[in-house]
Amino acid sequence: MGSPLLVVLLLFLHSFSMAAADLAADGAALMAFRSAVGQGVLSWNTSASPCSWKGVTCKGGRVTSLRLPGSSLIGQIPAGTLANLSDLRTLSLRSNALDGLLPSDLARSSQLRNLYLQGNRFSGDIPAFLPELRALTRLSLADNNFSGEIPQSLNNLTHLTTLYLQNNRLTGGIMDLNIPNLRQFNVSYNRLNGSVPAKLQRMPANSFLGTQLCGRPLSPCPSEAPPSPAPDSSSSSNLSGGAIAGIAIGAVAAFLILAVVLFLTCRRKREPGSRRISEVPAAKPTDGIGSHPSPAVAPATAGTMKQLMFIGSAPRVYDLEDLLRASAEVLGKGTFGTAYKVGLEAGLVLVVKRLKDVNLQENEFREKIAAISAIDHPNVVPLRAYYYSREEKLLVYDYIRGGSLHSLLHGSRSSSRAALTLESRISIALSAASAIAFMHSTSPNFSHGNIKSSNILVSSSSESLVSDAAVAHLAGGASYASTAPAGYCAPEVTDVRRVSQKADVYSFGVVLLELLTARSPAQGNLDDGGVDLPRWVKALSREEHVGELFDPELLKNETVGNEITKLLKLGIVCTADHPDQRPAMIEVVAKIAEIRRLTVSHTKD
Ligand SMILES: *[C@@H]1O[C@H](CO)[C@@H](O)[C@H](O)[C@H]1NC(C)=O
Ligand SMILES: *[C@@H]1O[C@H](CO)[C@@H](O)[C@H](O)[C@H]1NC(C)=O
Ligand SMILES: *[C@@H]1O[C@H](CO)[C@@H](O)[C@H](O)[C@H]1NC(C)=O
Ligand SMILES: *[C@@H]1O[C@H](CO)[C@@H](O)[C@H](O)[C@H]1NC(C)=O
Ligand SMILES: *[C@@H]1O[C@H](CO)[C@@H](O)[C@H](O)[C@H]1NC(C)=O
Ligand SMILES: *[C@@H]1O[C@H](CO)[C@@H](O)[C@H](O)[C@H]1NC(C)=O
Repeated sequence: MGSPLLVVLLLFLHSFSMAAADLAADGAALMAFRSAVGQGVLSWNTSASPCSWKGVTCKGGRVTSLRLPGSSLIGQIPAGTLANLSDLRTLSLRSNALDGLLPSDLARSSQLRNLYLQGNRFSGDIPAFLPELRALTRLSLADNNFSGEIPQSLNNLTHLTTLYLQNNRLTGGIMDLNIPNLRQFNVSYNRLNGSVPAKLQRMPANSFLGTQLCGRPLSPCPSEAPPSPAPDSSSSSNLSGGAIAGIAIGAVAAFLILAVVLFLTCRRKREPGSRRISEVPAAKPTDGIGSHPSPAVAPATAGTMKQLMFIGSAPRVYDLEDLLRASAEVLGKGTFGTAYKVGLEAGLVLVVKRLKDVNLQENEFREKIAAISAIDHPNVVPLRAYYYSREEKLLVYDYIRGGSLHSLLHGSRSSSRAALTLESRISIALSAASAIAFMHSTSPNFSHGNIKSSNILVSSSSESLVSDAAVAHLAGGASYASTAPAGYCAPEVTDVRRVSQKADVYSFGVVLLELLTARSPAQGNLDDGGVDLPRWVKALSREEHVGELFDPELLKNETVGNEITKLLKLGIVCTADHPDQRPAMIEVVAKIAEIRRLTVSHTKD
């Protein structure tokens, strides 16, 4: 009987065309958005799926995030554009030249969780519809031209953890703002007055800079008595500028004394001859790698104590001492240093990377760190802080649970490899590729420089994060030239500090081949007597034995079908010997996205 089959087929085609219609509507909304504010600056290929467009991410066949930071968007966003993206969860339009009011139909975006609009020229009141976006967890309207009062209805946003309103023209007081999970809050540089509400008094004083606000954590309000009358300020209820300066100087002095004590304690605890973290300022540049200038011991004055530098709005809940005191576990040793997993007492887990042989001057180091910390992409492990002294350079990252792709593929637990289905392998490849493509889009000279499976961290079956971005650029010393490590490094690379974007594509291609074959490129343990992975794959794929190439765990549930073959071919073109024959990373992303759509439509039947 053909009819039940026909019904099933029709149902399938129906659901398929519904999904396609939704995505087509998303595409139309994005096109309308582009023609209003991004004409000529967003080069989206309209004959390809919207999911492959720059800045657009999809899930389940719908557009779920739109990230166009610093994309030269200009003008006013009209209604009937962004609000039509009904599955949108993340909207980032920061650092553009958007102005006017936000379109009021954005109230329909009930899935919206992250709304980043900082660094534009939006004006008018804080939109009255914002409290209707019940799912919002992060909201930044900072660095705009918003005016009027902060509406108390923001209290309806109970999931909010971040609220940034600094550098606007907001007026009036902060009424009883009471949002339970709010952790990051900033209203600095607005024309606000009145007292800080009780629920916000736990925020740091620099959440309220440049305002007329008073009360904890700022100076007491004129009407109220100071909370703990200090002998020298009790005479006046309103603190004079001089008194504030005095308190500030006192606080700095107290800090310096504390710093000296910490420094001395830290010194005493260490074995003689071992490295110290706290270090003297670079009095004169070290000349030559590995030369340790003998006068490493400097007078232990507090002024020379260097601090951990936090990046952006990273929570400042630990300091260098905490990192040094905490229990640490070696995660891995790489070309550029050693990574430790560090558990802090507060339950926070971080990764601290201790760089070796960096001989950049501090200002150069800072410049490179600034470029690294500007990579704000959901699939890049964020850099939270760094420490620079002459002898010691540390980078502090978030710790990603789940393990690296390397350990999943080659670790002792074969179950973790078996759990990597074709679909999840494709998704892992796609999120890593989009992260790398994003890095490449920031500047033609910017590359990751050290792509390998141990730098791809798998956070879930469909997400991966790229770590160690551009750390290669921090490396110094001639020892890196001509020591290109085998395995992932493109043949033309002679100096691992100067890896081109096309060399990144090569390394990524090796990772793709590794994902499909589960053979480790770094170990040289291939059957074929130490031939590198791309060469081995290329040789076997020309013969009849293509089936032998693939990870047997993968083939337990898959046949060597269209998707696997396409992915293998992509790995092969990425690892072409000549850089010009390799595709650009953005094309790699488009290709994997297309392959993923094939698998998704496949698994529906
Ligand atoms: C947005 O949705 C509305 C109503 O569903 C529709 O009329 C409008 O044409 C859509 N806008 C675009 C640009 O597709
Ligand atoms: C646009 O996408 C189509 C379909 O994927 C493709 O054939 C075409 O080459 C692409 N055009 C450009 C300029 O990338
Ligand atoms: C906020 O929530 C209250 C109570 O749930 C409701 O009455 C009010 O209309 C909401 N305000 C907005 C602007 O959504
Ligand atoms: C900011 O908004 C005010 C009106 O509220 C307007 O006069 C001013 O020109 C705006 N500034 C910018 C830079 O757009
Ligand atoms: C805040 O400033 C406005 C206008 O300058 C003034 O009318 C109001 O009384 C002030 N509020 C407080 C609590 O000082
Ligand atoms: C708040 O914003 C101001 C101005 O951008 C900045 O100086 C300050 O450090 C910020 N404070 C917090 C807690 O993020």
